[in-house]
Amino acid sequence: MFLNKKILITAGPTYEPIDPVRFIGNRSSGKMGYAIAEVLAEKGAEITLISGPVSIKPIHPNISLIKIETAAQMFDECMLKMDIMDIGIYAAAVADYTPKTFSINKIKKDDEQLFIELTKTKDILKTMGEMKKQKQVLVGFALETYNEEKYAQEKLIRKNLDFIVLNSLKDTGAGFATDTNKITIIDKYNNITKFELKEKRKVAEDIIAYLTKFLDV
Ligand code: CTP
Repeated sequence: MFLNKKILITAGPTYEPIDPVRFIGNRSSGKMGYAIAEVLAEKGAEITLISGPVSIKPIHPNISLIKIETAAQMFDECMLKMDIMDIGIYAAAVADYTPKTFSINKIKKDDEQLFIELTKTKDILKTMGEMKKQKQVLVGFALETYNEEKYAQEKLIRKNLDFIVLNSLKDTGAGFATDTNKITIIDKYNNITKFELKEKRKVAEDIIAYLTKFLDV
């Protein structure tokens, strides 16, 4: 079913530079996106993995890795590649804001307080949703701490997704920097499916099993 399918996956955090030695980042490990990439590659898919800085490496030869650092770089790579993709799975924890200016020199601690002005980054997944072709399948992620299902459902609609994978930080063992995850899948037909806490590889298998419902065969 996934043989020769072209699949773009985003994973990991983005790093938004402040000066030559500092950045704004987040705790994403990339494990969820990489696990999805491995399982799909084993099923014969051709994977383009666009990843922020993480400590893990892809294993399967069907995965071609594009490493980026910033949200803007991830946006550019997705724009270049998404057109020819059958499926897009957007698991990256993209920074929502980036420093307005970059200091070429290392910032000295001269002042008692330091203010860094931030501007919004482009929403990659929303842009992909606007460009989505009829046969493309688009999957997003949502990490929430309250009103989880409501916010996830809003993102699903706003970003024109087929389904969204929700992680709640209220669940122990779910979300960033863990080897396990506990997800709820909400799809565009308003189906809500809750899964047990599992190893990320097993979670990847559940997400991929769900994906098969949306493929033209
Ligand atoms: N996403 C993206 N580009 C961004 C921000 C988010 O592609 N600039 C994608 C993520 O990869 C994820 C989904 O959008 O698949 C939801 O990300 P999330 O950070 O939960 O939602 P936001 O839209 O940023 O909303 P908020 O931060 O207000 O909850």
